[in-house]
Amino acid sequence: PKAQPLAGKKVVITAGPTREPIDPVRFISNHSSGKQGYAIAMAAVELGAETVLVSGPVSLAIPPGVQMMPVETAQDMLETCEGEMPADIAIFTAAVADWRVASEAPEKLKKSGDGPPTLRLTENPDILATISRSPNRPKIVVGFAAETERVSEYAARKLKSKGCDLIVANDVSKGSGVFGGDRNTVHLVTASGVEDWPQMSKDEVARRLMERLAQMLVPQQKV
Ligand code: C5P
Repeated sequence: PKAQPLAGKKVVITAGPTREPIDPVRFISNHSSGKQGYAIAMAAVELGAETVLVSGPVSLAIPPGVQMMPVETAQDMLETCEGEMPADIAIFTAAVADWRVASEAPEKLKKSGDGPPTLRLTENPDILATISRSPNRPKIVVGFAAETERVSEYAARKLKSKGCDLIVANDVSKGSGVFGGDRNTVHLVTASGVEDWPQMSKDEVARRLMERLAQMLVPQQKV
């Protein structure tokens, strides 16, 4: 049997896109597949953690053994995460929409002779930053940083501005194939420096990341 270094520990993971309503039939969202977050949830289960997956709408099977918390909007996602605190580890992989429509139309917007409507946007809460600064802060907070240039430099900045312990930075520039793909090339950024990992499957990134986090949480044990 595999070692279960995270037995008795709680891990909360956000994954997928959020979906921000414009009216009852339309929304703003993004191309996040949820694959990396779901792979991390599976790896957390394998290490014995009580694993909560707070997920926006994706077309992936629910990993066996996870506690699934489906959400749609960024605000739902934040409230659900807050409701899951305290936790030992929180990992924020979700591609949260930066903006939502300031006031959702109660009825379907109609085409009219006046031309297209103007959508007024307002900023969504930063879930990672909020949880990492809350009195209930998990012992280890992990963020992801999808960048198209100067990946490690921007990630190091994000580590500070969001108050997390570790940033997993990846290059999502055109041609990287990360969005929706099965492979990922990541850089682990902590206060003590940057570690470049070779390209590997998202499953392998997930396993290695969870093993690393287990060692950070419970340093004395071998994983
Ligand atoms: O600022 P940026 O979106 O690049 O930060 C990415 C990291 O922050 C990811 O870990 C993402 O899940 C998290 N995030 C969040 N809530 C937001 C925006 C980003 O949790 N509103």
